[in-house]
Amino acid sequence: MDFIGSHILSVDQFDRADIERIFGVADAMGPYANRSRITQVLDGAILSNMFFEPSTRTRVSFGCAFNLLGGEVRETSEVKASSLSKGESLYDTARVLSGYSDIIVMRHPQSGAVAEFAEASRVPVINGGDGSNEHPSQALLDLYTILKEMMSRGESIDGLRIALVGDLKYGRAVHSLCKLLSLFDDIHYQLVSPPELAISDEIVGSLRSAGHTVDEYFELEKGIHQVDIVYVTRTQEERFPTQEEADRYKGLFRLNQSIYTKYCEPNTVIMHPLPRDSRSQAQELDDDLLQNPNLAVFRQTDNGVLIRMALFAMVLNVADQVHNHAKPVTWYTAKRFN
Ligand code: NCD
Repeated sequence: MDFIGSHILSVDQFDRADIERIFGVADAMGPYANRSRITQVLDGAILSNMFFEPSTRTRVSFGCAFNLLGGEVRETSEVKASSLSKGESLYDTARVLSGYSDIIVMRHPQSGAVAEFAEASRVPVINGGDGSNEHPSQALLDLYTILKEMMSRGESIDGLRIALVGDLKYGRAVHSLCKLLSLFDDIHYQLVSPPELAISDEIVGSLRSAGHTVDEYFELEKGIHQVDIVYVTRTQEERFPTQEEADRYKGLFRLNQSIYTKYCEPNTVIMHPLPRDSRSQAQELDDDLLQNPNLAVFRQTDNGVLIRMALFAMVLNVADQVHNHAKPVTWYTAKRFN
């Protein structure tokens, strides 16, 4: 695809060559993200970061990524703090905000709302998550993490075996990741969920017709057997018709160190888009896994900055100018990254 000036709304926009380009630019962002160098390549540019749903890492990492490229960030983080609460349409909001910014990132509780907003926007819009539909930048950072983990053991993504666990019905991160992985060859998907929270037949059908293997499981122990990656998710309680219904599914699948030792391979990588629900009734990913070197959740969050920097640099057409504006960092920086 041509990234310059484009909206990023769905992983359906990408082919394998696009992903390689994004990952190549993301790799080059390492020195800026790990604070050994700074760049001002987006000096003067403005990002409107519009998050109409709770978010910590997606909102902050998009903002940091823009700052790390030298741009300014304007934030709106609640519907009630914006004119949408006064009945303003997405169309009007998009027309207005696109007069104030060079690029917009938006998260919205309704599927399709970010695409509707983008149609009215005069500047590129990146989907930060629309309802239970898609979360393209999350899928890219997950795929980037999977690639790094597989490369570190001399393997590639083709032939990957991945277990996806939890709320596969409402989880947009899982929807986008499944679709993105299907661009590779011979993926084995092991889908582990309660029957009521299974992924849609439409997605399963498209994965199978692209030549991949999809097996469904209702028990954690069986579904996480013989996989390279186990990708755990949270019950998306905010999307259920009632809280009572959501509560029924919390804590059904809990991965902890003893289950991991018994049923996973010794080097199965553990991933989660975060936030994990650490309340006692849920605990889908136990704290006792924090010592497990295969727990990649914080490598995922670090990689999110690289991927989001790459998307900004490519959409705003500065990917090949980043280094021209670079300077060494002069202040103390803790060594946070490997
Ligand atoms: C995910 C999301 O918002 O879809 N979080 C994130 O962006 N990392 C997953 C979730 O909320 O469970």
